[in-house]
This record gives sequence, structure tokens and C-alpha cells, in this order.
Amino acid sequence: MRRKLIAANWKMYKTPDQARAFVSEFKPMIAGHDRDDTALFPPFISIPATLEAVAGTKIEVGAQNMHWEKQGAYTGEVSADMLKCVGCTQVIIGHSERRQYFGETDIGVNRKLRGALADGLKAIVCVGELFEERESGLTESILRRQVGAALREISGADVDKFCIAYEPVWAIGTGKTATPEIAANAHIFIRGEAAKAIGADAARKLRVIYGGSVKPENAHALMSQEEIDGALVGGASLDPKSFAAIVNW
Ligand code: PGA
Repeated sequence: MRRKLIAANWKMYKTPDQARAFVSEFKPMIAGHDRDDTALFPPFISIPATLEAVAGTKIEVGAQNMHWEKQGAYTGEVSADMLKCVGCTQVIIGHSERRQYFGETDIGVNRKLRGALADGLKAIVCVGELFEERESGLTESILRRQVGAALREISGADVDKFCIAYEPVWAIGTGKTATPEIAANAHIFIRGEAAKAIGADAARKLRVIYGGSVKPENAHALMSQEEIDGALVGGASLDPKSFAAIVNW
């Protein structure tokens, strides 16, 4: 049985004060929740405030991006090592917004995953097809390329340290959710591709989570699917009540 991970991707929202206010409202709403893992991904600047606010709980805190080198002349970048130093345990890699607006490539995603694992950070690696790609029947070839590239030279022994988020780009921030069946089918396909890279045993343990317009109203139907090992939530994670309702699916 794979334990689910419910993660909040706050994107470029929440100052340190807003992050603190979120956590103080959110904590009591999920008190006693032990079924799934929970993680918050604030903007870099709000990571320390979020970490302080969640102290004493099992809520993990991570970053939305990182650089693959430990340090160097890379203006504007932050390394896995630095994230680890302040107390982050996780990082999101290859989110479609980074691929779309910041030129993130498959090769970069793989470098970042290897860098994160080498420095002891757990990673959520995002993959997913565009609307036109799905319409043209290209979903599987896109997922094959993204998963294959991301997992190059990754060992099956590290499978508990990363998960893959299937985030169809047409479902992100659009209110259009993949049906539980569409998501589950994509997850089965992703697991099959992962098996080619990390072996079948490790792939069975790999968590494949879903992202794209997850809301309190659809969380139960999505999370009840055996193939869906959790959720990466954007818009609906900004409000503590709404994110708590998703965690308590
Ligand atoms: P959304 O974003 O929940 O707002 O669709 C998900 C994501 O981008 O991770």
C-alpha cells in the first residue's frame, strides 16, 4: 500500500505573514490526521516562516524549484543544499509553469532530480501533456519522453525519495479536472514507463500523484482511485479551509 501525499503548491502567492496566518488556521483543521503525508511549498522567501509555523507537526515544507549545483555563479538561483540547510525536506521539479515560462528542459529536470537526491531532498517531479498534445493523441509519447528523461540514471533504491506528479497542463488552473479514470490511466502508463528506468519492483512502490484543478468537491473521487497516490494542489491550496477539506478527503 502506497501512502498518499497531499501537497500545496502556493506558486507566487503568500508573504511570510500570510504563510504564518495560513498555518495557524490550517493546523487545527487537520489535527490528528495521520492517513496521508502533507506538505506545503511556499515561495522561497516564505519558507522560514512556514517552517517555524509548522514546528511540532508532521507537515513538511519544500521549495518550488532549485538549482542542480551545490553553489556557484548562478544569479538568482538556490541550491538543494541551501534548501536542506534551512529545514526544507522536499522540492518540486519541472512544474509545467517552469517548463512553459522559464525554459525548463527534460535534461534540467533530470539534473535537478539527481542533485536533490544527492543532497538528501525528496522531490516531486512534474510531467504532463498540453491540451493540443492530448487532442492529437500524443499524450503517451509526451509522458514517455518526460518520465524517461527525468529518471535517467536514477536508482530504484531511491524510489521512496521522489514521486511523479501527473499534471495535465490543460487541467492546471483551468477548473477542468481530469476525470478519475483519465488520471488513473495516465498514472498506470507513467508507472509502466518508470518501470523501464528503475525496475518493476521499485515502480510498484513509486508514488504517482495527480495535479490540476483538485478541489474539495473532486478530491474524494480522485483520491479513492488506487492508482492515484496523492495530489499536488495549486489554487485550492491557498485557502486553509479548502486545503484542509482536500487533506481530509
Ligand atoms: P491548480 O494547480 O490546482 O491551480 O490547477 C496545480 C499545480 O499547478 O500544481
